[in-house]
Amino acid sequence: IKTIAVLTSGGDAPGMNAAIRAVVLAGHHYNLNVLGYQHGYIGLMEQEYQPLTPGDVYNIIQRGGTLLKSARCEPFKTEAGAQQAADNLQQAGVDALIVIGGDGSFRGAEHLSHFWDGQVIGLPGTIDNDVFGTDATIGYYTAIDTALENIDRVRDTADAFERIFLIEVMGRHAGFIGLSAAVGSGAEQVLLPELCEQEQIDIDALTRHIQKAQKIRGKCSYIVIVSENLWPGGANALAEDLNRRTGIECRPVILGHVQRGGSPVSLDRMLASKLGAYAVEAALAGKSGIMLGEQNAKVCEVPLAQTWSQRKPLDPYLVRIQTEMFDLLSTEA
Ligand code: F6P
Repeated sequence: IKTIAVLTSGGDAPGMNAAIRAVVLAGHHYNLNVLGYQHGYIGLMEQEYQPLTPGDVYNIIQRGGTLLKSARCEPFKTEAGAQQAADNLQQAGVDALIVIGGDGSFRGAEHLSHFWDGQVIGLPGTIDNDVFGTDATIGYYTAIDTALENIDRVRDTADAFERIFLIEVMGRHAGFIGLSAAVGSGAEQVLLPELCEQEQIDIDALTRHIQKAQKIRGKCSYIVIVSENLWPGGANALAEDLNRRTGIECRPVILGHVQRGGSPVSLDRMLASKLGAYAVEAALAGKSGIMLGEQNAKVCEVPLAQTWSQRKPLDPYLVRIQTEMFDLLSTEA
């Protein structure tokens, strides 16, 4: 092969730049032309690309966001959209396309492969960590650290005023960020989609838990981590509801897109660098239709369709320590 292309698609994640850099440097090492498509699949449909050389990726390993910009692209999901993209790739002489994104982006890559006979390789890039077949996704570790830094700040003021805070974290429909943020911040409670599906949050139990905490520990700070999309109206509505039930002032904090930005932490830079380089070598080896991930510190190859066909489970041990062992109130009468 002579020419590889790379794009970033869906929600951007810290470490995407590190992955692009790795692809470009590895491509250069193997004397390949590297093209960077802008704005995800939109760029493929609109033939929006530029050649990438090592000079273009100088000094970006530490930067959040993505040099190539990102987008979600509905028209690409149609036959006409994917055919247009395939024709454009053909015209640009691309042999292999590396897609950095989450499960939606991998569905797009699979869709494209029905119209284009070039090679497609996915790299998991999303803060949500909800991609089956890899222990972690690029951006996940940074998002946890960002959440923790902010939750620690809330804890200071919560403690000073002995208040209850509901902190909403991202994750789309997965609780990876929520669980890690709860364990890492020492939160009193955590509400995750995997543990309580929508409308089934046991708000009575949560109310009792708060009241018990106040009875046993006296007035004190109390933090609940809530995954987004779990409760109609989110943390705001849940805080109001709890206010009414407990008579105690509950404050919502929605962390939102701060979790998507910032300089990637070391683990995300390592993962991105490893997977980006490996993607180029996999392309040279003729591989296609796979995502590259990491399992037990080893790079692994996962058929694209597998990455979304199964729901990736939360670490059951982390769930147990958070909800049982570290919940001192669970053993109190
Ligand atoms: O997939 C990453 C993510 O940040 C999710 O956690 C969140 O639900 C979604 O993207 C938000 O997307 P947007 O920025 O398009 O609103």
